[in-house]
Amino acid sequence: MKQFLRYRFSTVLGVVGAGQMGTGIAIVGSAVAGLRVRVVDVNEQRLNASHNFVSKWCDKEIQKNRMTDQIKTDVLQRFSFHLQMSDLASCDFVVEAAPEKFEMKAEIFRQLVKATKPETILASNTSSISITKLAGITDRPDRIIGMHFMNPVPVMKLIEVIKGLQTSQQTLDTTLELASKMKKEIVIAQDIPGFIANRILMPYINEAIQTLHEGIGTVEGIDKAMKLGTNVPMGPLTLADFIGLDTCLEIMRVLHQDLGDSKYRPCPLLVNYVNAGWLGKKSGRGFYKY
Ligand SMILES: NC(=O)c1ccc[n+]([C@@H]2O[C@H](COP(=O)([O-])OP(=O)(O)OC[C@H]3O[C@@H](n4cnc5c(N)ncnc54)[C@H](O)[C@@H]3O)[C@@H](O)[C@H]2O)c1
Repeated sequence: MKQFLRYRFSTVLGVVGAGQMGTGIAIVGSAVAGLRVRVVDVNEQRLNASHNFVSKWCDKEIQKNRMTDQIKTDVLQRFSFHLQMSDLASCDFVVEAAPEKFEMKAEIFRQLVKATKPETILASNTSSISITKLAGITDRPDRIIGMHFMNPVPVMKLIEVIKGLQTSQQTLDTTLELASKMKKEIVIAQDIPGFIANRILMPYINEAIQTLHEGIGTVEGIDKAMKLGTNVPMGPLTLADFIGLDTCLEIMRVLHQDLGDSKYRPCPLLVNYVNAGWLGKKSGRGFYKY
């Protein structure tokens, strides 16, 4: 019960993108940090699904005796869901969690600059895209920062914070304060493609897919070898399905293009799966069927 707060801080948190990451970020913003949270998505169905997910997540917490019905009501009351970026006008801090495509994120940042107050900090949950490059298209490069949450956000303890070349100390301090209100552990990374976590994780996942592509093992065999052989909670192909194969591919493309090293070439099997619409758990099929 101690974990979830009923009071609220004055900060209003905006979240752009109501997918798996945006919904998780919104949950920790409201339920753990006690903030009012405004979620924006271009897709109304995603907004409805996000709303339902938050409600069901609260129900599970109640079943585990970690939340009361009253706290659930408070958590949901602090939420609002919107289709227009202009509805983020009152936000002090916005986290963007749209798909991992530079042009898409760049357009969102252009819209955010118009929609928010000049002092609003704009963070990206990008897995690999340069924060300095995103900052360069805004009017406030000192207030742009990377806030890379891990999936599933309410469960995973870490946030990787990425300081762009022009990010100010004040922006960094505010971001660290927000992360600590969300009860997260922090690692600060340099703004180099992939940062720390995905610079290491994605080539590992890509190599697992390559291992499958070359017929060295089956899906189950590769996952079993790594799960039991290296004592990780899940194998790399399960993890890839869970992250989203489209997201994995986009991250590999950023590493390949921006670091310019052929060792980051996305595995052709990964490209084929994404072309087929087999995106992992979120589409019902990836390396496994869901
Ligand atoms: N999936 C992971 O495990 C993981 C982990 C860490 C970081 N990330 C990063 O988080 C971001 C989001 O990933 P995800 O897995 O939540 O993706 P997702 O596909 O589940 O969700 C993306 C959401 O963004 C919405 N969207 C698209 N265009 C938009 C726009 N112009 N304005 C507002 N919303 C828009 C989509 O409708 C969708 O609901 C990516 O940058 C990804 O790299 C993902």
